[in-house]
Amino acid sequence: MVVNVTKICCIGAGYVGGPTCAVIALKCPQIQVTIVDLNKARIDAWNSPDFQLPIYEPGLEDVVRKARGRNLFFSTDVDKAIQEADLIFVSVNTPTKKAGVGAGFAADLNYVELATRQIARVANSSKIVVEKSTVPCRTAESMRTILEANSKPNVRFDILSNPEFLAEGTAINDLFAPDRVLIGSLQSAEGKAACAALTNVYANWVPKERILNVGLWSSELSKLAANAMLAQRISSINALSAICEATGANIDEVANAVGYDSRVGPKFLKASVGFGGSCFQKDILNLVYLSESLHLPEVAAYWRQVVDMNEYQKRRFSQTVVDTLFNTITGKRIAVLGFAFKADTGDTRESAAITLIKNFHSERALINVYDPKVEHAQIWQDLTEVVPGSTAESLKKTITISPSALEACKNVEAVIIATEWSEFKTIDWQKVYDGMNKPAFVFDGRLLVDAEKLRKIGFKVTTIGRGERL
Ligand code: UDX
Ligand code: ADP
Repeated sequence: MVVNVTKICCIGAGYVGGPTCAVIALKCPQIQVTIVDLNKARIDAWNSPDFQLPIYEPGLEDVVRKARGRNLFFSTDVDKAIQEADLIFVSVNTPTKKAGVGAGFAADLNYVELATRQIARVANSSKIVVEKSTVPCRTAESMRTILEANSKPNVRFDILSNPEFLAEGTAINDLFAPDRVLIGSLQSAEGKAACAALTNVYANWVPKERILNVGLWSSELSKLAANAMLAQRISSINALSAICEATGANIDEVANAVGYDSRVGPKFLKASVGFGGSCFQKDILNLVYLSESLHLPEVAAYWRQVVDMNEYQKRRFSQTVVDTLFNTITGKRIAVLGFAFKADTGDTRESAAITLIKNFHSERALINVYDPKVEHAQIWQDLTEVVPGSTAESLKKTITISPSALEACKNVEAVIIATEWSEFKTIDWQKVYDGMNKPAFVFDGRLLVDAEKLRKIGFKVTTIGRGERL
């Protein structure tokens, strides 16, 4: 029997759970959606009267304004939301393990397990449990084992895998018009019925032909595969950017020419200082760990290289800065524009800017950082995590957070563009130039600014993937 879903609970009010379930609430006014989290400060922010939401995402505030209080609720009462729901999304964090077997590679499934155990403990009616967090293959199987071993009589659990493909910065558009929605289920009658119930929820706004029903494990692996292949494109283009710099070719021209082939396509071929974000590295390392566990060392080595290339790109860019500034940046002041892992988000997880600043700091440079969206506390937290033995106070001796791009660039020797915020294109570069020490260097790690225009002003410009220096 296909359940008619009327109440949804989402465990985890983060980057995935928050926007996804807010959009479900908007598009399905007949369904009550309650998003719960253990983190009270986060829930308070989601409930804030002036919509100071905990996540910056274009269009999100509008969605929350329309649905909050109507059929969208945020709460810390996890048990109550579980008990009331027909369908539960598990959208908790799955960071890379920091200790124990698989440390540095495997996903830490502790949060998924705790949430699953909580569902088993408090549910007193049958539930469809949907794994939304990106998880290694066969996690659904573990969740099923936990749920079945702990369920009460007459309570049945059906497990679905429904990975989220939204990208930060475009999350709301991605959710409104997804390329596809993937739902994995057991191929039993009950599994298919659960799958149909969730399909009906999405069918409120997603065309049926874009909702793909597959097996549980295919669904789990597809998410890892999609992220691995996207990241692989970036590492491929970044590897080519090194060749361009050494030969005088232009990576934008190469990417454009390659992307014209309809089999390759033009998207996701932008050379950069390296990919960041909570997903790419984590998911590839997951795939590496999975491959090793399956005794497939060649497969593991293949995917590991995508991450290695990304690390190399960040190292290479830092080294170019040092080399260009006459082989030393000790005591020199440098502006780093952008701290988020990409534009239009305040998220800093695995941001390339963190590695760059760490490298410049270890060369004893003085650094001004500016980002239009990232909270200052987050910048200090990220930097203290990567600089061994540091505190925010100790870092403040050499690192300053500036209130604007122009302020950050005052009296510096070099400006580094680390994130592709569009405001960096339109800052008054003449003013920046006038306020800088000479020669004034710009290092564009995002192919963002018009290098020729800047050269006319007088800047010495180094752009990733361009061989002008030859
Ligand atoms: C990614 C996937 O795109 C998404 O489908 C999945 O659900 C989660 O992981 P996200 O990490 O939010 O999304 O951002 P994405 O736009 O994919 O960018 C990831 C990183 O790659 C960023 O640091 C970005 O700047 C970089 N990037 C992207 C490039 O360097 N070049 C490109 O051409 C594209
Ligand atoms: P993602 O990017 O995957 O959404 P986040 O870290 O942004 O990850 O969000 C995950 C959220 O899940 C966090 O706010 C965390 O507090 C919450 N969380 C983790 N475990 C539980 C749990 N057992 N019950 C409720 N919330 C949880």
